[in-house]
Amino acid sequence: MAVSEVPTLDVQRIRADFPILEQTFNGKPLAYLNSAATSQKPRQVLEAMTAFYETSYSNVHRGVYALGERATAGLEGAREKVRAFVNAPSEREIIFVRNATEALNLVAYAYGLARLKPGDVVLATELEHHSNFVPWQYVANRTGAEFRVIPIDDAGDPQLDAVADLENVKIVAATIVSNALGTIGDIPKLAAWAHERGAILVCDAAQAAPHIRLDVQALGADFIAVSGHKMCGPSGIGFLWGRTELLLEMEPFLLGGHMIRHVGDQTTTWAELPAKFEAGTSPVAEAVGLGAAIDYLEEVGLEAIEAHEHALAAYALDVLGEIPGMKLYGPPAERRAGIVMFDVDGVHPHDMAQILDLDAIAIRAGHHCCQPLLRKLDLPATNRASFYLYTLPEEIDRLAAGVRKAKELMG
Ligand SMILES: Cc1ncc(COP(=O)(O)O)c(C=O)c1O
Repeated sequence: MAVSEVPTLDVQRIRADFPILEQTFNGKPLAYLNSAATSQKPRQVLEAMTAFYETSYSNVHRGVYALGERATAGLEGAREKVRAFVNAPSEREIIFVRNATEALNLVAYAYGLARLKPGDVVLATELEHHSNFVPWQYVANRTGAEFRVIPIDDAGDPQLDAVADLENVKIVAATIVSNALGTIGDIPKLAAWAHERGAILVCDAAQAAPHIRLDVQALGADFIAVSGHKMCGPSGIGFLWGRTELLLEMEPFLLGGHMIRHVGDQTTTWAELPAKFEAGTSPVAEAVGLGAAIDYLEEVGLEAIEAHEHALAAYALDVLGEIPGMKLYGPPAERRAGIVMFDVDGVHPHDMAQILDLDAIAIRAGHHCCQPLLRKLDLPATNRASFYLYTLPEEIDRLAAGVRKAKELMG
């Protein structure tokens, strides 16, 4: 694909919203190609948080004064934005947490640990980030349930035939978009498969929410977990969406202030949803920042962002694919978000990342918190370049030139 066909967004105009991208390192403009790890923040988010701290900050739900009401409106306004963003039927189904990892642990502890028993089966795909793998392995081990891995093919699609004969499957854990291969999963199919067996489907949406439009009612999953920092929002805030009927049945995860109805000397009763799962002082300014990030992404358009990333992924697969000794992993560009995992003959991934850094190109090297996947590929580490709405095709050209240079340097 030619460079001129790539942009579907006015990327230069978008970049002007991101102060961090104005910097140079080693005298070269920063090419930030690690957005799958965490995204950069537009001025609109930074300003919304500053304005909130300057005019509206207070504790929420408790202060019987105007400032407290303003802060509460900030938090609850953000919850409504999140609800609309994922098309959830009710705001009560949106639980603010620190990040996707905490959201998945919440489900593992409050749903899994309380219900699983010997004879039950918990499934997680081989593609999972450790955040949607380790909690399930752990609660299965704690409860005596069996933990099984659903194998994947080279494109990252789960091979359901391999586990079709298992009985008593209670939980299926799957990512919507892979942070390693970039694969966009067929979640409605997986949800139907899980539900036919009487299991629930717990989806990791950490890489999906920033890049593709999510509609929880169309997906058919039972829980989804999201981190704000990967979608232009601040760190320290994410959310769990879950079905009301499941959230109502579940015991709380964290205990303390705000999540109680009545505290007796011996027993305590719980607050209504979502407070039951939001113990302690809320991340109010962070929620306001997340709300501003959602406004920003909606204004740019999730569909335009997704199209831009498909085009960038296609371009990267083309230009990187021309480099001798290059191995690329994952599905075709139209089935992936803007994530390209690669490995170059003769250059250790950490050396590659360090050499690219000399040219101010930031990429990730390592196991990407996906050790089960790297075990399947029989690799200790790989490189990963990941793109977002502010990524330019020229930055991919710089990446390709840097990779060639690293190959020469390493002999
Ligand atoms: C697919 C996926 N799931 C979960 C996570 C965990 O996100 P966090 O560290 O924000 O909880 C990540 C982060 O890289 C991810 O890529």
